[in-house]
Amino acid sequence: MARAFKTVGVVGLGTMGAGIAEVFARAGLSVIGVEVDAEALERGRGHIRRSTDRAVSRGKLTAAERDEIVGRVTFTGALDDLGGADLVIEAIPEVMDYKRALFTDLDRICGPGTVLATNTSSLSVTAIAATTSRPGQVIGMHFFNPAPVMKLVEVVHTVVTEDGLADDVAALARRLGKTPVTVGDRAGFVVNRLLLGYLNHAATLLERRVASRDDIDTAMKLGAGLPMGPFALLDLIGLDTSHEVCEVLFQESRDRVHAPAPILRELVTAGLLGRKSGRGFHDYEGAPARAASEFPVKMGVASVCVMGEGAEELSSRLAAAGFKRGEAHDADVVIALSSTPVVEHAAGLPRPERLVGLHLVGGDVAELVSTALTSPEVALAAHDLVKVLGLTPVPCADRAGFVVDALLYPYLNDAVRMYDSGYASIEDIDTAMRLGCGYPAGPFETLDAIGLSTVRDGLRALYAEYREPSFAPAPLLDRLVTAGVTSIRGR
Ligand code: CAA
Repeated sequence: MARAFKTVGVVGLGTMGAGIAEVFARAGLSVIGVEVDAEALERGRGHIRRSTDRAVSRGKLTAAERDEIVGRVTFTGALDDLGGADLVIEAIPEVMDYKRALFTDLDRICGPGTVLATNTSSLSVTAIAATTSRPGQVIGMHFFNPAPVMKLVEVVHTVVTEDGLADDVAALARRLGKTPVTVGDRAGFVVNRLLLGYLNHAATLLERRVASRDDIDTAMKLGAGLPMGPFALLDLIGLDTSHEVCEVLFQESRDRVHAPAPILRELVTAGLLGRKSGRGFHDYEGAPARAASEFPVKMGVASVCVMGEGAEELSSRLAAAGFKRGEAHDADVVIALSSTPVVEHAAGLPRPERLVGLHLVGGDVAELVSTALTSPEVALAAHDLVKVLGLTPVPCADRAGFVVDALLYPYLNDAVRMYDSGYASIEDIDTAMRLGCGYPAGPFETLDAIGLSTVRDGLRALYAEYREPSFAPAPLLDRLVTAGVTSIRGR
């Protein structure tokens, strides 16, 4: 018979724990929220209060409903109060020693029928379960930040999880209005395994000065259609959590793309943890960041020469905006339309300092590529030119994949590898990324939309440039392209 979960304990009322407590209370369950000290308990209570107040101010809840929801949560500093709970979910910091100590205590305190769940982002559920006398009743129940909003719950079973428990927890997730995806116990599960590699790579591009923080954020939001840029998202997740997840991924994968970018460690050490501490990559307390659109406007361009595929259309748009068509040898600015590095075009020009690359992404974004020879004045002028055309400029260095493809393609490749390893199905991976991160499409939907061979070729170029082993096209992707398959979902 399926388990009936009525009373749920939540241990740890930080951003995630408080959000999880709110989700259970909204679904009508009684919640016991536990925090170590009075101050943290008050912060947790404040989180739930603010979140539900916001729903009232947006007209999503009435004041009476809010009071009912908050009233379902009992706040306590005593773990012993969890003795009679049907389910206890842990949401404390990502440190294995803390988790083990907590589960040992919970095992002692809770009745024999209590299911113990962890909201760990990446640590081994099996290792946590092994500290208890009931490993069969220990499971992962992984929510996404902000928990009241994101629709996914990863249900993580281990090799010793009792039959039927994962199904019961998945049914509970549905009762909470979430969509469960059930998977086995591997570092990062589905979402963090795919997400953190991408976020870490964005931090690496920043460190290598391929583009600025705001330009990378803008490129991924407007160019790839993601709800947030990578640095805004790292700040939301918390840089300490992100660093820990990368560490754990690296321990399992030994893949350099998971080794936390040094800038992450530096910010964490400085106490800049993201939104929760008021500052991370972005500042949430001080002056608002300078918007990319405030780039100084300074132009003295009369003529423009455009080369490459799509040159005629762009030349016409520029002509309509009042710029003369020039030739490569006499134009004030020479634009090479290209999805690959452009320095070789510059090398053949009489005035290579006048050449910039331009790569249109997603309709609105123009990646503007400065080569080692481009003069700063021409780069600025090109920036203004694309703004005149109504595009959002993303200045970047002349590297394979520029910004968007360099971040998107390895993520798609990782998804293919994950599927090919047998860990999760195409449908589950697509669902997990759409509902866990608010992506407009899952990786396989995106792969089909871009085209398998385009992505495969882009990965080859990225691998040739960065020599990261995991950027080499996944064998399955390579085989599908060779076989002439055009849709990985439809094959
Ligand atoms: N708590 C509660 N509700 C919140 C919230 C919060 N912190 N932030 C936003 N919301 C609610 C708003 O009240 C609003 O609700 P309604 O539509 O019912 O009015 C809704 O979310 C949309 O909010 P906004 O209009 O203010 O902002 P937005 O449209 O820009 O959306 C966002 C904000 C939902 C955070 C969106 O940007 C998004 O989906 N971002 C991606 C987040 C993501 O990837 N999360 C997963 C991170 S990985 C993780 O968590 C796992 C891990 O282990 C590390």
